[in-house]
Amino acid sequence: MEIQTERLVLRKFNEKDVDRLFELAKNPNVADTAGWPAHQNKEESLNTIRTIFQEDGVFAISLKDNPDEIIGAISLKNSHEPHSKEIGYWVGEPYWNQGYATEALQAIINHAFGYLHLRTLIARYYDGNFGSQKVMEHNNFSFFKTVVDEPVLLLNTSKTIHYMKLESQSDAN
Ligand SMILES: CC(C)(COP(=O)(O)OP(=O)(O)OC[C@H]1O[C@@H](n2cnc3c(N)ncnc32)[C@H](O)[C@@H]1OP(=O)(O)O)[C@@H](O)C(=O)NCCC(=O)NCCS
Repeated sequence: MEIQTERLVLRKFNEKDVDRLFELAKNPNVADTAGWPAHQNKEESLNTIRTIFQEDGVFAISLKDNPDEIIGAISLKNSHEPHSKEIGYWVGEPYWNQGYATEALQAIINHAFGYLHLRTLIARYYDGNFGSQKVMEHNNFSFFKTVVDEPVLLLNTSKTIHYMKLESQSDAN
């Protein structure tokens, strides 16, 4: 499935994205705050594309002007609560602060509530990630809870994590 916005195309990852993924995902400024280790080589990026990026609900973010070149990723994954999913996203550093994450999140919210008929969306950010907090607030997420010292398995550490929540406004859900 492909989702279009004013400036973006959200689409499935494919193996041709490997070079760009590695370019963007080897950057610790992206990886550390997204919660995974920076990619060390292209094999790691290819393996990611072949496995977790093939799961349902994972979208590459690309620009409409150049849909073959990814600029980030956004995902809608199962959460513990029924009728609820958790959203995660990252945008490559050269593309920060141009409203792309805000626009991609808006599109995923519309998809989640309008097409998948979910009731609740959860998103979370590490303490101090003010950019991501803004992206969530721009899209009307509100504070829900803070967990101090929550384990982050992929990074082999623990962090203070702020959880945000958005409820569907539709009675039909
Ligand atoms: C967080 C991230 C997704 C934001 O993507 P983006 O495309 O730059 O986001 P947008 O441009 O839509 O919005 C960013 C907002 O944060 C603001 N912002 C950025 N850095 C900030 C900072 N250090 N302090 C306060 N606000 C900040 C921007 O000004 C902007 O707000 P505005 O539109 O009101 O001006 C991107 O920086 C990223 O991928 N970072 C690394 C991975 C990550 O943190 N993922 C999210 C995990 S929860």
